[in-house]
Amino acid sequence: MLRTSILLCVAPLLWVCSSVEASVSYDDKSLIINGQRRILISGSIHYPRSTPQMWPDLIQKAKDGGLDVIQTYVFWNGHEPSPGEYNFEGRYDLVRFIKLVQQAGLYVHLRIGPFVCAEWNFGGFPVWLKYVHGISFRTDNEPFKAAMQKFTKKIVNMMKSEKLFEPQGGPIIMCQIENEYESVERQIGPPGKAYVKWAAEMAVGLGTGVPWIMCKQEDAPDSIIDTCNGYYCESFKPHNSHKPKMWTEAWTGWYTAFGGPVHYRPAEDLAFSIARFIQDKGSFVNYYMYHGGTNFGRTSSGLFITTSYDYDAPIDEYGLPRDPKWGHLRDLHKAIKLSEPALVSAYPMATSPGNNLEVRVFKSKTACAAFLANYDTKSSATISLQNVQYDLPPWSISILPDCKNAAFNTARINSQSSHTKIAPINGGVFSNWQSYKEETVSVDDSDTLEMDGLWEQINLTRDATDYLWYLTDVNIQPDEGFLKNGENPVLTVMSSGHALHVFINGQLSGTAYGALENPKLTYSGNVKLRSGINKISLLSITVGLPNVGLHFETWNTGVLGPVSLGNLNEGTRDLTKQRWSYKVGLRGEALNLHSLGGSSSVEWVEGSSLAKKQPTTWYKTTFSAPEGNDPLALDMNSMGKGQIWINGESIGRYWPGYIAQGNCRSCNYAGTYTERKCQTNCGEASQRWYHVPLSWLKPSGNLLVVFEEWGGDPSGISLGRRRTKFVCADIYEGQPTLTNWHMLASGKVNKLQQKAHLWCAPGQKISKIKFASYGLPGGTCGSFREGSCHARKSYDALERNCIGKELCSVSVAAEVFGGDPCPGSIKKLSVEAVCS
Ligand code: GAL
Repeated sequence: MLRTSILLCVAPLLWVCSSVEASVSYDDKSLIINGQRRILISGSIHYPRSTPQMWPDLIQKAKDGGLDVIQTYVFWNGHEPSPGEYNFEGRYDLVRFIKLVQQAGLYVHLRIGPFVCAEWNFGGFPVWLKYVHGISFRTDNEPFKAAMQKFTKKIVNMMKSEKLFEPQGGPIIMCQIENEYESVERQIGPPGKAYVKWAAEMAVGLGTGVPWIMCKQEDAPDSIIDTCNGYYCESFKPHNSHKPKMWTEAWTGWYTAFGGPVHYRPAEDLAFSIARFIQDKGSFVNYYMYHGGTNFGRTSSGLFITTSYDYDAPIDEYGLPRDPKWGHLRDLHKAIKLSEPALVSAYPMATSPGNNLEVRVFKSKTACAAFLANYDTKSSATISLQNVQYDLPPWSISILPDCKNAAFNTARINSQSSHTKIAPINGGVFSNWQSYKEETVSVDDSDTLEMDGLWEQINLTRDATDYLWYLTDVNIQPDEGFLKNGENPVLTVMSSGHALHVFINGQLSGTAYGALENPKLTYSGNVKLRSGINKISLLSITVGLPNVGLHFETWNTGVLGPVSLGNLNEGTRDLTKQRWSYKVGLRGEALNLHSLGGSSSVEWVEGSSLAKKQPTTWYKTTFSAPEGNDPLALDMNSMGKGQIWINGESIGRYWPGYIAQGNCRSCNYAGTYTERKCQTNCGEASQRWYHVPLSWLKPSGNLLVVFEEWGGDPSGISLGRRRTKFVCADIYEGQPTLTNWHMLASGKVNKLQQKAHLWCAPGQKISKIKFASYGLPGGTCGSFREGSCHARKSYDALERNCIGKELCSVSVAAEVFGGDPCPGSIKKLSVEAVCS
């Protein structure tokens, strides 16, 4: 990599002027890398949300998708599980991840945080940090600042010693300190301001040689670039005019919470938002997420976040391109790259040729690029530029990298769309399940901890487990009225979260749980009590710790009361302050039942004795790995709530019993997007399938262990392959495409020519053309229908070119389909091809 060792002072006030070897600097237009202004396209891939075996392919797919930069947070609690004990192995091998990005020829944006938010457990903070004497998170607090500085320094020094910063020849071009701090600062005032100043000085003082950013931090000190996060960022302006306009989180979709719907964001709108940002002087865009991945183990946060962190990202949870999103954005990136010389050398000149219409031209001595925009959400429009007319669908932007020929329109998708499925393998189900019943603990059990009153859960578990038993006895006198009239007492339990199972004398009596909007819960139900001593056992369960909110480290979890028993002779008896006993974790956890060694330490039962629909039950089975390299997933729909392990590795929490509620109406790409706009899965499990990384499997003898809390049927669990079901192309004649652009720009042709490209996932082939129509077909992918104009030979060319192939392409032209079925009309080709 070529590097300059002179000072790069493009604008007079650049902070980098003070650094010795400034190979990454910036001005108001963009980052400047080795003397060159760059429009950079970046994407978030969080290394612990996939396996190291997946990393090279994900990075390659990001590169093929037109990315220049990979952005990741650094996950403190993964790296320092206990004070001073570090982990940089396996999924936490940060250096390996960054070196792979470097090998692929891409840059890295390292968001050290160390607060990361990210729907990650405790926002990335280790739980032990909460118990440091006198600590207060994310404010002008000495113990906190000392810990934050120590970790940040540790990471920076590690990067330096591996020569990973750009001035050292490495790929890291930019770092981040803190994360969206502004809203906290607003609430806490002066200590917040002091903390921001301190954080900036601390970070810059580490001498990385690359710029630091703070996202959503309007008052970021001058040594820091402030950046935007959101669904749209065109109106964002950096706080200072010599800073480049950068977008650190362009949300490609949204996260899923158990009980919530699955969100998706149409590719047309995402592309529109990016083009809109670039035409408004934006020079760095990062997709959050480009690959969302999986919250393995207990890494997801206490917003009831699902194990899947798919995010509707351009690469799906399993590592496959999500089309049309991936392909459409790739085309957008090519068009932006073609425009880069003009974008970095000129300021845009904006004109408005009509209501809701805008033209932005970047023209320098050597280059010219134009962006034509139609902001109307309903009507198409025609814009004329230098006497040429350009058609624009609603809510769309066309990019003309030479100010003459359109290469791309954000609402016209030329890449294929694909639909995936999880195909069960050989029926998919497992044989030979064995079960082991987790005993309900009571006050009488040994090794319980006895205390007065109700105690906060994390204080006792230190988040080493999701589970804490709250145990107490209730004495019922023989003369209680309910023993005669049968009107059972009402037990009321108030808990700060997240889920609760109530056992009375060893029997499950009821369950309650909170939700994303409110983790608190109240259990209230009639309980069967007998005369004498009754055992109340409350199993309180966390679904991760909070990851965002003012001083979330002080928020409580678990049964904090009141707990009361109503409908007794005395009225209501308050149990809150009486003696309670505590047991941290499950017996099965203590025995390591999830591991190969531990699973043989107890007697399991099978066959007709197998427990079914029983609460708190462990299940295990062994299986052979399926052949091939398709990504794998477990269908857990027959189960309620619990956790899964394969060969001792935790797949994560499952909770298909939590049904998604939302607003799953149809969704048009046009108009301002929010996560409330486009939702699916209403009335179904929020997450049904759970990703099984291929690298966790051996050829045979794989141990699958499931801990079920509610009661489920393991015979319904199946393993399936993630495969492409069918792919579609839906292309109008005469649309701008990149291929056209090159041919038109070079003067090779004067007419637009289209091609439909289709491809199945690796290892799959096109087996059938389910639908093909050249003419005026209607419908969308999966529900195309012939229109009044249809070429009779529509199927021929596709069947000839595509059947039996992994990929194929066919020109969208009348002669290919046996002649023009309706001269004078603009026709299109719609195809649906089955992949097998
Ligand atoms: C942002 C935050 C990210 C992530 C995102 C939602 O505000 O910076 O870390 O939490 O929201 O997915």
